[in-house]
Amino acid sequence: MTSPADLSLVEGEISEDERMFDELIANEQRIEPRDWMPDAYRKTLIRQISQHAHSEIIGMQPEGNWITRAPSLKRKAILMAKVQDEAGHGLYLYSAAQTLGITRDEMMDQLISGKAKYSSIFNYPTPTWADMGAIGWLVDGAAIVNQVPLCRASYGPYGRAMVRVCKEESFHQRQGFEILLSLMQGSDEQRQMAQDAVNRWYWPSLAMFGPPDEQSPNSAQSMKWKIKRFSNDDLRQRFVGMLVPQAEILGVTLPDPDLRLDEETDRYVIGEIDWDEFFEVLRGNGPCNAERLERRRTAHENGAWVREAAAEYARKQARAWDPEPAETAGSLSLSKGA
Ligand SMILES: [Fe+2]
Ligand SMILES: [Fe+2]
Repeated sequence: MTSPADLSLVEGEISEDERMFDELIANEQRIEPRDWMPDAYRKTLIRQISQHAHSEIIGMQPEGNWITRAPSLKRKAILMAKVQDEAGHGLYLYSAAQTLGITRDEMMDQLISGKAKYSSIFNYPTPTWADMGAIGWLVDGAAIVNQVPLCRASYGPYGRAMVRVCKEESFHQRQGFEILLSLMQGSDEQRQMAQDAVNRWYWPSLAMFGPPDEQSPNSAQSMKWKIKRFSNDDLRQRFVGMLVPQAEILGVTLPDPDLRLDEETDRYVIGEIDWDEFFEVLRGNGPCNAERLERRRTAHENGAWVREAAAEYARKQARAWDPEPAETAGSLSLSKGA
């Protein structure tokens, strides 16, 4: 992405393009697809947005697993709407990533070949109905805390996609909370089921914010570029601060005996997160990694005919709208090829 003018630059000097980029960032303005941007900024965004898209798509599976077994028609309708929202989030995000010069096919290949990463939390199983409640409350809750600041991300298409995504995440979090609330008002067995699900999802949801600040080397650059606005630990604090009063209303216990508010610093003291487990799951060794990927791969293969039909339809539409007059169309179509 070097323009001819850059060749005359002395080492240490910045180009006019770079100066404009820095100025837009400094003034809280947005970088748009056609603007010049440093290669590292583009690469970081492609990685982040595509991983985010993959997480939304893989994230449909742990809950999709319960659509046929939801306890009532109303619960089923709500869960279906929620899972469809996640598909929509994936699609907005793939579109946003495409504006940076990567194709949908490339991203899909990276996902189904196992090369791409996605949020590690979706590699955990959902053995009970209460897991639907815990995922909504904790996983979508963590997603909101992470994503609300992303509405102000410096890259325009990403920030704008996040606005709608966050509105939907807020519905997801409430539906999860409400599932847990109903269970907590039920029988002893139902209360236990809700507590067990919270115990399963609490720690992985805290890990969703990523490693502690001192072990997160890319964060500083992302904050400088105003993609990221708050550090991993600050976001984690905000999340725990949101959960504590809600857990009280629910009547569930957060499974961390060390958890307390330090009055002096006004920050929560949080027990030790098992980062070894986090990195193991990230490396592909979680309880459901293979299953999630296999399912995605099969769905992709089964959808081949839909993609072919859509491409053929688009070709036909393009021909129907060809503005060339009818009498010359024959010769033109020869020179234009397929
Ligand atoms: Fe989502
Ligand atoms: Fe969600």
